[in-house]
Amino acid sequence: MKTGRVIFITGTSRGLGLGLAEHCLAQGDTVCGCSRAPATLTDARYSHYELDVSDEKAVVAAVRAAVRRHGRIDALVNNAGIASMNHALLSPAVTAQQIFATNFHGTFLFCREVAKAMVRQKSGRIVNFTTVATPLRLEGESLYAASKAAVESFTQVLARELGPSGITVNAVGPTPVPTDLVKNVPAAKMDALLARQAIRRFGTIEDVINVVEFFLSPQSEFITGQVIYLGGVNG
Ligand SMILES: NC(=O)c1ccc[n+]([C@@H]2O[C@H](COP(=O)([O-])OP(=O)(O)OC[C@H]3O[C@@H](n4cnc5c(N)ncnc54)[C@H](OP(=O)(O)O)[C@@H]3O)[C@@H](O)[C@H]2O)c1
Repeated sequence: MKTGRVIFITGTSRGLGLGLAEHCLAQGDTVCGCSRAPATLTDARYSHYELDVSDEKAVVAAVRAAVRRHGRIDALVNNAGIASMNHALLSPAVTAQQIFATNFHGTFLFCREVAKAMVRQKSGRIVNFTTVATPLRLEGESLYAASKAAVESFTQVLARELGPSGITVNAVGPTPVPTDLVKNVPAAKMDALLARQAIRRFGTIEDVINVVEFFLSPQSEFITGQVIYLGGVNG
């Protein structure tokens, strides 16, 4: 896939999604983004959909509008996500609902709607977001890790369902990257987490972009159903 791609990235108001959107715009891509908050990006090749990724009607309408406007969607990056750090026994049921609604349900809805257009195109790339908290079975992150385990499993099955249509579906699992998502994690807990990586440092937006671009590249057409974790964490 060359520059000039049409890419839908979820969760573009800040953090990794904003960094990815800026990277793609700098490459010459056309980017559709979304978040519950208004757009923080302004660019002639950027359009923003103010929505909650777990709202089925809003997702259906946004994807239809994007396809009508651009004629196609070459790639979908399901980056929008939330985390909650708490012992399972102290976690309110509503937290479980919110985490699964955003992380799993939102990913499912965007995959379903965008893949309909990709099946017609007979091509497409989907990259979902997981985390090293899932393979590390991180204490205090049971709901977050479980929601991302669902994303991983969905990614692998969807890859098989969409393979015959020329669509790849993969996932990237970042280590901690200093964004709003992890700013409230206590330093001692963060140090313990980094100590479990083969390469003991924070991730960067560039580390994440590198894996996303690898999955999006034309040379990666035979790579699907894979999860790549950063920092040398094994699945
Ligand atoms: N940063 C890390 O250390 C780390 C590590 C591993 C994995 N990840 C994964 O990487 C992804 C991005 O994380 P981040 O660190 O960039 O998080 P972040 O800085 O908190 O940004 C999250 C983005 O997602 C959007 N979002 C959240 N819930 C949404 C919803 N229900 N509907 C629409 N948009 C929503 C937010 O916008 P609004 O709040 O305006 O909706 C924001 O733009 C997540 O999937 C996360 O699980 C991050």
